[in-house]
Amino acid sequence: MNTKIDYTEINRSMWNLTAEINKKEGLDQLLSAIKNPEFSSFDAVEKELFARFPLNGKDVLQIGCNSGQELCSVKRADASRCVGVDISDSFIEQARVLARHAELDIEFICSDIFDLKNHCQRSFDLVYITVGVLGWMPNLPRLLALIHSWLKPNGQLFIYEQHPIPGSVDVCFAPALSRKTASHKACDEGNNWLLPRNITQ
Ligand SMILES: C[S@@+](CC[C@H](N)C(=O)[O-])C[C@H]1O[C@@H](n2cnc3c(N)ncnc32)[C@H](O)[C@@H]1O
Repeated sequence: MNTKIDYTEINRSMWNLTAEINKKEGLDQLLSAIKNPEFSSFDAVEKELFARFPLNGKDVLQIGCNSGQELCSVKRADASRCVGVDISDSFIEQARVLARHAELDIEFICSDIFDLKNHCQRSFDLVYITVGVLGWMPNLPRLLALIHSWLKPNGQLFIYEQHPIPGSVDVCFAPALSRKTASHKACDEGNNWLLPRNITQ
């Protein structure tokens, strides 16, 4: 039995079910909110971090981009090429609609992140991962190796995750910012990492 294929397909089906709920309960609101050019999903921590490490001109890959609101915010912060990847075709469809409403040029790809493989060698200045993504990854060392191969020299990996991820990674993941916030995105210290590419080597 190929457990990897089973796991991936179960994961995709579950996220597609979640996407249908999102479509009924939240999408219309998001579509009208995104039309406001001031709309941003960034909380105080992300705003401060991206003030220190500006997004403008950067080529960004988001893993687990969901309905695309975070990548729309990245693009609006003057990032250059933006690519979002998600395993759920239903969320990718919503993300494309959202970007169209926002009049933003963003590429959304429906794929298991592990199947992107070598398609984007050394393509990105920043890989962006936010809350609720890493827990679904069956093989973190393999994911980090892939991310490393996708980053340009001096590229960076930004992980903004929640319990149990911050407590379960090695101390070599030095936090760029480390503090508590009231945000739903942060429930522990050390949630916010901006990693120079050579840390993952
Ligand atoms: C909790 S959501 C991320 C939400 C996002 N931080 C936001 O606020 O929009 C996790 C996402 O990861 C995606 N995902 C899970 N496993 C994946 C995989 N193997 N490859 C790509 N995307 C995956 C899911 O489809 C889901 O959209």
